[in-house]
Amino acid sequence: MLDAEVRELMQPFVLSDYQVQEVYSRFCLEVARGLKRSTHPQANVKCFPTYVQDLPTGDEMGKYLALDLGGTNFRVLLVSLKGHHDATVDSQIYAVPKDLMVGPGVELFDHIAGCLAKFVEKHDMKTAYLPLGFTFSFPCVQLGLKEGLLVRWTKGFDCAGVEGEDVGRLLHEAIQRRGDADIAVVAILNDTTGTLMSCAHRNADCRVGVIVGTGCNACYVEDVENVDLLRADFKKTKRSVIVNAEWGAFGEGGQLDFVRTEYDREVDEKSINRAEQLFEKMTAGMYLGNLVRLVLLRALERKLIFKQSSRRPEFAGVLQRNEDVFETRYISEIEDDTFPEFASTRKIVRNLFGLEKASVEDCQTLRYICECVAKRAATLVAIGVSGLVNRTSNRRVIVGMDGSVYRYHPKFDAYMRQTLQKLVKADKEWDIMLSEDGSGRGAALVAAVASKSK
Ligand code: GLC
Repeated sequence: MLDAEVRELMQPFVLSDYQVQEVYSRFCLEVARGLKRSTHPQANVKCFPTYVQDLPTGDEMGKYLALDLGGTNFRVLLVSLKGHHDATVDSQIYAVPKDLMVGPGVELFDHIAGCLAKFVEKHDMKTAYLPLGFTFSFPCVQLGLKEGLLVRWTKGFDCAGVEGEDVGRLLHEAIQRRGDADIAVVAILNDTTGTLMSCAHRNADCRVGVIVGTGCNACYVEDVENVDLLRADFKKTKRSVIVNAEWGAFGEGGQLDFVRTEYDREVDEKSINRAEQLFEKMTAGMYLGNLVRLVLLRALERKLIFKQSSRRPEFAGVLQRNEDVFETRYISEIEDDTFPEFASTRKIVRNLFGLEKASVEDCQTLRYICECVAKRAATLVAIGVSGLVNRTSNRRVIVGMDGSVYRYHPKFDAYMRQTLQKLVKADKEWDIMLSEDGSGRGAALVAAVASKSK
C-alpha cells in the first residue's frame, strides 16, 4: 500500500480534468496565434511553415543521403527508396562531443561534414552525385525547402554564430571547404516532419508527426489558407502544407504556470535556456529524469522513502551532486518492472546508492513517483496531439510518433490514449502509429518529393 503522504507529495503532478481542459484551450489558442501574421511575433507556439506540401505516395525511388542532428546522437544515413512503400536504410552513428555542442558553430558543421565524408568514402560513393536531406531538429524559420534560419538552440546545444543563420548554407559551406564529395543539400527538415513523412509513406492517413525523445515537438498538415506565413506563391497550386508547431516553447507566456510545480521551476532555473521551452521541460527525455531526481530529494528529506536506512543524507548527496544521475531511461525500466520482485528497480537503487536491499515499499514509492512524472508528460503530449488532430480537415487521422520516451516507456502510449479519448472530437477516427526511422527515411522522402515536384 502506498503511503498517503507519498500520494500527497505527488499530487501536484496529477492533472485534474479541469486542468486538462484548460491546458487544451490555452494550447489551441496559441496554435491559432502562431499561425496568424498579426499575433505570430508574440505567440509561443510558432507554427512555422515547412514548405513540405506533398505527402509521399509510396512510389518514390532512388538513393538519398540523410543527416540527423538534434537528439542524443548524430547520424549519417544512406536511404534507398524502392517504390511499393519500401525502403532500406544503412546508417552510422557518430558522437557529438559535449564541447562541440556549446562551441563555435563552424566547428560543429566541420565535424558533421567530416563524418559525412567518412561515410561516403566507406560506402564507395565518392564520385556519385548525392542529394541530401538534413534533419535539423531545432526551431527554424524556413524560407523554402532548403533554407532554414535557426531561431534558437534547444536541448543543451548552444553553438556560437548559428542563430539567425541559414543552416543549409552552413552545411553546404562546410562540405565545400573539404571539397571531397559531390553532395547537394536539397532539403532541411525537422524530425517531426521526418516522422510524419515516414508514417505517411506507410499509411496515407497520417497527418500529425510527434517526437517525444530528448526534446518534444509536433508537426501537422494545415490548409494553406490558415498559414499566413507561407509565401503566397506556395498557396496557388497546393492546398496544404506541413506546419512545424514547435510546441516545446508553449508556456513561455505563462500559460502553464497554473500547473507547473516547484520541481519544474527548479529544472528551468538550472537549465542553459532559462524561461524557454517550458512545455518541453515537462515532457521530454532530457528533463524527466531530472524531475524524478528532484522529487526523490524531497521524498528523502521528508523521510517518505528509504525510511529504514540511516544513509539517507548520503543518498541525498548522490542526487545533489549530478543532475543527470537519475537517467530518464530508469523511469521506463522501473515502470516495466514486476511486482513484488522489482529486479530492475532494485538494480537501479543499488547502482545509484549502493543500497543492497530496497524494500518492496521503497520500490513501490519510487515507481509511483516515476509513474506520476511520466503520466503527466504523456497527458500533456496528448493534449497537444488532440489540439492538432482536431484542427486537421480529415476525418481519419493517424498520428505518427517517435522518440526514445514514447518508444521505450511501457505505458506512455496507453496514458496518451486515455487523454486523446477525452479530447479528440467524436466525429474523428484516430490512431497512433510508431514511426520507422523518421529522421532518415523521412529526410529521404522530403528530398525525393522535392525533386519530383520540380
Ligand atoms: C526541440 C526542438 C524541435 C524538435 C524537438 C524534438 O523541441 O526545438 O525542433 O523537433 O526538440 O527533437
